[in-house]
Amino acid sequence: MAFDIDMIKKVYETMPERVDKARELVGKPLTLSEKILYSHLWDGKAEKPFTRGKDYVDFAPDRIACQDATAQMALLQFMQAGKSQVAVPTTVHCDHLIQAKQGASKDLARANDVSHEVFDFLGSVSNKYGIGFWKPGAGIIHQVVLENYAFPGGMMIGTDSHTVNAGGLGMVAIGVGGADAVDVMAGMAWELKFPKLIGVKLTGKINGWTSAKDVILKVAGILTVKGGTGAIIEYFGEGAKNLSCTGKGTICNMGAEVGATTSTFGYDESMSRYLRATDRADIADEADKVAKYLTADDEVYANPEQYFDQVIEINLDELVPHLNGPFTPDLATPVGQLGEKAKENDWPLKVDWGLIGSCTNSSYEDLTRAASIAEQAVKKNIKPKSDFGINPGSEQIRFTAERDGILKVFEDLDATIFTNACGPCIGQWDRSDAKGDAKNTIVHSFNRNFSKRADGNPNTHAFVGSPEMVAAIAISGRLDFNPMTDKLINEDGEEVMLDEPSGIELPPKGFEVEDAGYEAPVEDGSKVSVKVAEDSDRLQLLTPFEPWDGENLMGAKLLIKAFGKCTTDHISMAGPWLKYRGHLDNISNNCLIGAVNAFNKQTNLVKSQIDGEYDAVPKTQRAYKKAGIPTVVVGDHNYGEGSSREHAAMEPRHLGVYVVLVKSFARIHETNLKKQGMLGVTFANESDYDLIQEDDTFNFVDLENFAPDQPLTVELVHKDGSKDTFKVNHTYNDAQIKWYRKGSALNLIKEENAA
Ligand code: F3S
Repeated sequence: MAFDIDMIKKVYETMPERVDKARELVGKPLTLSEKILYSHLWDGKAEKPFTRGKDYVDFAPDRIACQDATAQMALLQFMQAGKSQVAVPTTVHCDHLIQAKQGASKDLARANDVSHEVFDFLGSVSNKYGIGFWKPGAGIIHQVVLENYAFPGGMMIGTDSHTVNAGGLGMVAIGVGGADAVDVMAGMAWELKFPKLIGVKLTGKINGWTSAKDVILKVAGILTVKGGTGAIIEYFGEGAKNLSCTGKGTICNMGAEVGATTSTFGYDESMSRYLRATDRADIADEADKVAKYLTADDEVYANPEQYFDQVIEINLDELVPHLNGPFTPDLATPVGQLGEKAKENDWPLKVDWGLIGSCTNSSYEDLTRAASIAEQAVKKNIKPKSDFGINPGSEQIRFTAERDGILKVFEDLDATIFTNACGPCIGQWDRSDAKGDAKNTIVHSFNRNFSKRADGNPNTHAFVGSPEMVAAIAISGRLDFNPMTDKLINEDGEEVMLDEPSGIELPPKGFEVEDAGYEAPVEDGSKVSVKVAEDSDRLQLLTPFEPWDGENLMGAKLLIKAFGKCTTDHISMAGPWLKYRGHLDNISNNCLIGAVNAFNKQTNLVKSQIDGEYDAVPKTQRAYKKAGIPTVVVGDHNYGEGSSREHAAMEPRHLGVYVVLVKSFARIHETNLKKQGMLGVTFANESDYDLIQEDDTFNFVDLENFAPDQPLTVELVHKDGSKDTFKVNHTYNDAQIKWYRKGSALNLIKEENAA
């Protein structure tokens, strides 16, 4: 499927020298994470050791993967860069826009109907720019990447937070926003704060009902949803070697749930087996040659406390199965203790659905272990009490599982086999059995279980477990069921117990697929035209933003003074707006509608200085734009925290906001503003925030001298004509000031490209 062996060989050729030099520079043995990071530096070598958690470093990732929801704006932007091909191997995967309802074939046909224009656009733009395209139904991005593209020691970025899944094959794989992916596609470096390192030492071997999933469910309980922030989690020890490659993938996948930058494992036999089973023996052979560079130096794992910022130790011999939830993936409870907890908290004990699959848990091993439980229901004449839903991770897995009779086991229990896509994992689930206010419980083998995540219903209590535990709980229909100790009553009135799960790591007859759903791009895409209908309400080609005229900015009006928290969700809400991710003008109708107006403490209600009326933020701003009046958004601390969503910077820019002036920025959002040609500045004196009045006019009186490290001066004119003058700081360097001059980073790239 067109993985690039030459690219991988090149990574392995340069890695030893780069790692050896880095070790010399750092002056101590290196972890695996450091080896991968130092061997992927943008300019090849470091001048000094980087300080973890502090230094911002430019990297050169080997690959990019995008899913259909985030790829739309990313590729619309890439089209602005004036390139004929992506600079780095890239794939697009259609997996998020397929709703689960009646089962795979009907659901896929409906998605192809409802979202055909998005799929057609993604297919044509991929074909034009040399991007591999995975059609709807081909599979979930991270499973497809693990099966086809991930390789030990590599670095990749992806426009989805569970890109980290590829750590199961020894990569440093990181989820990013579309703007970052576009930079790399366009041939620019990718910047990341050098991460801290958390080491997780695994001893022993998982056994019985315990699975790889339970490792990360346990880690989530220890670290909580924030504990991994800014860090790479590196797993090691005998216990790690005893896990399958796909089990490692599951663990890395849910590293996103503890906020980790990514997670990874050192290259071992399990990875070699997986590479060979997925038709990539040549990568395994190459990896074998540089194996010592694909894991940490021995000394690191012998004395981990000296080399990691934090070390956690888990003995797999003693690890018990967990179910995490509801409403947060870090609420870890050992199976067997959940009944009591549920009664205390009034969580419904009756389980309505057991869902198996997703990018987290749809390997051959996962499906065989879950099937080994499911088939006992038939053999022991137990009628399952919950409904079963399965969403395979890829067509290759689905085809192989069908061939080997695994899917039939679930079908015999009347399971619904959904499309090879995200489906219920991302709220794309048209669930008919639970509506209204009644609380209900589901169990699933996915990763996230926030309120409304699976079915949009805030009353659904979702618990995360391993596929085999989900199967057992779904058969029993009870959240307090413990298959290790409890009996079930079968249809003959007999007491029966479920035997321990058993699984097969890799298909004995090999993987097989008839049509994997992959479309390779044509060699020369210059004749390919990109399909976007003029009247589409979901897609809109972008128009380059206007360059700066080089003059001071005078007469700008206040659009909104945001009070308190203003995250990217407040600036560009998700939910129903996801539909417009590829249409900048339509999605701009959600611009800042969640921000609280400091003057009336209401959302989406601001005063227009044109007519003195109060109205919605986007409507008010559109009127300013029409009248040719520039505007300013004022904000509090950590403005733009949350996600790396570039829409939060593009929307105000599109609507004619010129400046965002805040007490402090979330860094990624600040960078996104810069990339889109906005002026993002901070109060030199935070208390000047209090000077801003509802009818104020802003004059940036020395903007024409815009230069690095030079604060700017704001003259604030109040309604009564009185004035305040204060300083604002900025962090633009020379290159970023060029972005500002040209109107956006992409405008600059395009110009340089044309030169
Ligand atoms: Fe899709 Fe859920 Fe994974 S949304 S990418 S299956 S986390």
